[in-house]
Amino acid sequence: MNIRPRRNRKSAVIRGMIEETRLSTKDFIFPLFVIEGTNQKEEVASMPGIYRHSTDLLLKEVEECLTLGIKAFDLFPAYPESKKDKMATESHNPDTFYLKAINKVKTTFPEACIMTDVAMDPYSSDGHDGIVKDGNILNDETLEVLAKMAIAQANAGADILGPSDMMDGRVGFLREALDNVGHTEVSIMSYTAKYASAFYNPFRDALDSAPKAGDKKTYQMDPANLHEALIEAELDEAEGADFLMVKPALAYLDVIRLLKENTNLPIAAYNVSGEYSMIKAAHQKGWLDGERAMLESLLSIKRAGANIILSYFAKEFAKLQG
Ligand code: PBG
Repeated sequence: MNIRPRRNRKSAVIRGMIEETRLSTKDFIFPLFVIEGTNQKEEVASMPGIYRHSTDLLLKEVEECLTLGIKAFDLFPAYPESKKDKMATESHNPDTFYLKAINKVKTTFPEACIMTDVAMDPYSSDGHDGIVKDGNILNDETLEVLAKMAIAQANAGADILGPSDMMDGRVGFLREALDNVGHTEVSIMSYTAKYASAFYNPFRDALDSAPKAGDKKTYQMDPANLHEALIEAELDEAEGADFLMVKPALAYLDVIRLLKENTNLPIAAYNVSGEYSMIKAAHQKGWLDGERAMLESLLSIKRAGANIILSYFAKEFAKLQG
């Protein structure tokens, strides 16, 4: 045997030198849940270690993360049922706590990069990402609501908008709406290939945003499909997206790889709530080592081709970096 691959694995130093993929705290966007009020911090039952914060405590959390090296955050609001309606009106009410929280975080920590979510579900009495009429999701009418929401979030100080709704044409529609009011600097990270997934349930618990009827299969993609992601990617790119996202991440590593090979735009991957909770639950049961499973999963997402990882593990990862 003149070729022995094990020689390159014989010590930690050699293994370290030839590591092809390295994670950095800079790769991450940390999703955070915001609620109305003061001095509120509630753990999400199905996401151990993840909390819904009122704005005052959110500021503390962001400050702590910044000192750990996390510079980018994706803020999601949780609204009580009483604030929801069919048209998601609260989403563009300039006095709503979510928009004020975005503004507060951005003015307190101008160096932080703030991403927001553009979709109707947290504000919708139907629990859907678009307007529901006779059981159908209305595409073009929804775009008008999304544009109002996007402009309100940009006005509040968001750096990156994340349309997570999967309506057709939304990236171009939002780009034009933003540009028309002078927000040419605000970026769009499109949820390009967002699948109708079972892995979003803990997130829907966190926001109380599960659909009241039906499912999201007429707008989110079928997990069976790979090449359809290329159609979405081509459209988002042509419509002016700055980043393309694949969501979820772990069951869709092939989609991350395919998009990476077919675009020059940066690729983001959303390591979603269910992917987080599975590892936490198995760790709590003593069935696997949560820290090692976390690192291996995050590494696999980057190895597949993601430049950016949205993950509830971001803070835990940053702490390990010391
Ligand atoms: C809603 C939205 C969802 C997530 C992000 N934005 C849920 C859904 O589409 O039902 C899921 C994130 C996660 O599971 O961590 N537009």
